[in-house]
Amino acid sequence: MSKYRVQGGNRLVGDIYIGGCKNACLPILSAVVLANDVCRISNIPNISDALLSLDILEALGAKIKRINKNTVDIDPRTITSHVVPHDLAQHMRASYYFLGSLLGRFGDARVSMPGGCNFGVRPIDQHLKGFQALGATVPAIIENGMIDASATQLIGNSIYLDVVSVGATINVMLAAVKARGTTIIENAAKEPHVVDVANFLNTMGADVRGAGTDTIKICGVRVLHGVEYSIIPDQIEAGTYMACAVATGGDIILHGVIPKHLESISAKLREMGAQVSEDDDLVHVIMEGPIKACNVKTMPHPGFPTDMQPQVAALLAIAEGTSIITESIWDNRFRYVDELRRMGAQATVDGKVAVFQGVKSLNGCPVKAVDLRAGAAMMIAALAANGQTEIEDIQYIERGYENFLEKLHSVGADICRIDIPTITSMRA
Ligand code: EPU
Repeated sequence: MSKYRVQGGNRLVGDIYIGGCKNACLPILSAVVLANDVCRISNIPNISDALLSLDILEALGAKIKRINKNTVDIDPRTITSHVVPHDLAQHMRASYYFLGSLLGRFGDARVSMPGGCNFGVRPIDQHLKGFQALGATVPAIIENGMIDASATQLIGNSIYLDVVSVGATINVMLAAVKARGTTIIENAAKEPHVVDVANFLNTMGADVRGAGTDTIKICGVRVLHGVEYSIIPDQIEAGTYMACAVATGGDIILHGVIPKHLESISAKLREMGAQVSEDDDLVHVIMEGPIKACNVKTMPHPGFPTDMQPQVAALLAIAEGTSIITESIWDNRFRYVDELRRMGAQATVDGKVAVFQGVKSLNGCPVKAVDLRAGAAMMIAALAANGQTEIEDIQYIERGYENFLEKLHSVGADICRIDIPTITSMRA
């Protein structure tokens, strides 16, 4: 068990290099199952969720060779199992992507109900509806925590998603790329990571068109080849450090980003008073003066991403005036507000709406990371706060932010990791 100790008040200045996108990496690692030869995947973020995906691949029988810190060779030819063990699947939401890829490869997939961050009910009915439309048998009700999907032959079909779902869009793509005939996904998610997965599949020889729009057309192919592929940069990691710059009145240049993917975040931070400028693969954020209050509503891409909602809330907690945040993707993504309140934030939550009455400053105290992005929000609040904050449950943060402490430290944050002795080791 570890926690972060943060001494607030330092102005963050300097350069940060952004890693690969978690939410593209996880489905891409699952998609390797579909290839008939070795795939070299680079720009894999150094996060625990990516390591877990590699563990799942190994448990299925794939051979993994680490080339360097962010690059691996994966040989899927030795995969023989179509069962993702519960002890691995339970820790990560994205383990459900193995349903689509194993179904596409073997016509059979058995995956334990996925775990992941808890922000309300997280159904997968649209994934199952998609598999069923392709001819798979799926469970009407999930028993014993396992999901079984099987098909003698997947056959292309038209699928209208009732909700815009990143997971269902990608999972149906994974199952459909080797199906017989053409699949059309309507009301598809348009996130950059959906496009990246489609690009990866196409590099392997798939025929996926329209990713990034709300209609995706997939013509099934018989074989997908081994390829070399580099994952896109992480939009949310970049957005989080942009928020750190704003929180501390700082000046940070983010390198290795795709500025277009950051447009909705940049626009919101400008509304809060930040100067945000862009060049080829960098974004520069300078904050001078007080943060201005504003309203935020999360939406599917290209709207403001739900995965940046807690981080901007930490900013609005210390903005001048009143801000309203409306969460329109998840039912219960304001659990972190109680933690911000412990630091002195004035906020009320009513269902999917939170109102922040900005305070002059927050005060450091012990807080918890209740989920991944909530943990990032705690860090932002702590960096801006008076005094010292200790953030517990950092395993959530390390699921999605690579070298978090090192990157923040490199721009001047006063921050360290403390190992908390377990009861057993205290007794020993
Ligand atoms: N939904 C359904 N049925 C489904 C699938 C989704 O009703 O079958 C609903 C969900 O309950 C939610 C909405 O549709 O209200 C959107 O869910 P989506 O399927 O898009 O979410 P996801 O694929 O489970 C991914 C990211 C999340 C991110 C959301 C929304 C991964 C591994 N996770 O989740 O990322 O919040 O899309 O953009 O890609 C994070 O990185 O911190 C994170 C939580």
